[in-house]
Amino acid sequence: MRRSTLDPYEDRYARRVFGMRSSVMRDLMAITQRPEVISLAGGLPNTGAFDREVLASLLEEISRTDGARALQYGPTEGIRGVIDVIVDVMRTEGMDPDPANIIVTTGGQQVLDLFARTFLDPGDVVIAEGPTYPGVVPCFDAVQADVRHVPLDEDGLNPDLVEELIDDLAREGLRPKYLYTIPTFQNPGGCTTTLERRIRLVELAHERDLIILEDNPYSLLRYEGEPVPTLRSLDQHERVAYLGTFSKIFSPGVRVGWIEAPRPILARINLMKQAADLCSSTFMQLLVTSFFTAEDGAMWKRWVSDLNVIYRERRDAMVEAIDEFFPSEVEYTVPQGGLFLWATLPAAIDTTDLLARALEKNVAFVPGAGAYLDGNGGSSMRLNYSAMESDRIREGIRRIGETANEALDLARTLGLDGER
Ligand SMILES: Cc1ncc(COP(=O)(O)O)c(C=O)c1O
Repeated sequence: MRRSTLDPYEDRYARRVFGMRSSVMRDLMAITQRPEVISLAGGLPNTGAFDREVLASLLEEISRTDGARALQYGPTEGIRGVIDVIVDVMRTEGMDPDPANIIVTTGGQQVLDLFARTFLDPGDVVIAEGPTYPGVVPCFDAVQADVRHVPLDEDGLNPDLVEELIDDLAREGLRPKYLYTIPTFQNPGGCTTTLERRIRLVELAHERDLIILEDNPYSLLRYEGEPVPTLRSLDQHERVAYLGTFSKIFSPGVRVGWIEAPRPILARINLMKQAADLCSSTFMQLLVTSFFTAEDGAMWKRWVSDLNVIYRERRDAMVEAIDEFFPSEVEYTVPQGGLFLWATLPAAIDTTDLLARALEKNVAFVPGAGAYLDGNGGSSMRLNYSAMESDRIREGIRRIGETANEALDLARTLGLDGER
């Protein structure tokens, strides 16, 4: 059946293709790379601050001493050196994984894709936070999943609401295949699930036979408050699979992440990864290994603490600017770490429309609708503060605030405020 005349190949594609939407972040990337645009849209870590001499010497060392291996295929599960580094990083975060339970992946993003393809048939239910990570949207779309959101609040994910949803689903004769959550410095919500809730979530997973995929790229980027144990570290019953990544603590350009999971799940993920890419880049795994073993691990820890000083200052700049320039009705999270803040404007404002106008003023953010698969989030936005210097952040927020105030004035003039 022909669906449109624009694409001559349209009658050949698999059905799943037609349900796929691009992640908003990806769509915006082309626009936001223009130098005149102040982008508060991406999730770009501050790679500009990384010492070029250090990078050059790490690469040179690998090329000279391990060049043949760097240029070669590697095992699907990853090279031993980087797996040992992963074990160290996870220990830093209070976990004690078995190296045999780890597969190195092409970024954490690949875990989201492999996990969805391993567990979800078309129509299968998966539970996700509302809002959820915009980058997972294409993964769920690709497998035609039925995504049910559980709304977040300032204390993160509420296990009681998860339990209610499981009960509701059971009444419909449905069972969620897994729960996908980002408990620490949630992207995009900026909130962190409290310890009490984490303990209950893990207990609930055990009681209700629920698998949890814990996505944790940000917890080492904490610049305030005390660390909260990961769900994985609280799990005594092999209910939690864990996603980690080097993107935010080293570089997203290396595309190295990992999954740590119960052995039977891992065996399935391994097969799925063989189909996807055989193995992740050996060269980049060696680079990660060199950086994370340099100075006995002191070098990467110094880098992360330097980043945290920068991010904290930028977060403060953003919060201050929002207070000054946004409509007074705005509600927003003040994250204690991570890269994002989530702001919600009055319901009369549609942030997808607002983005079009903001782009005319050369400023970008991620509209909230991109973080939901059920059409919610229309008056919210995700704002990133890691990628721009404080004065640019302030100017960006000033322009978005101006646009929002104009939109709100217009809505009031037309009597549309308070309608939706
Ligand atoms: C919550 C979350 N999960 C996964 C990823 C994927 O990261 P990467 O593939 O770079 O490891 C990101 C990136 O921003 C993220 O924010």
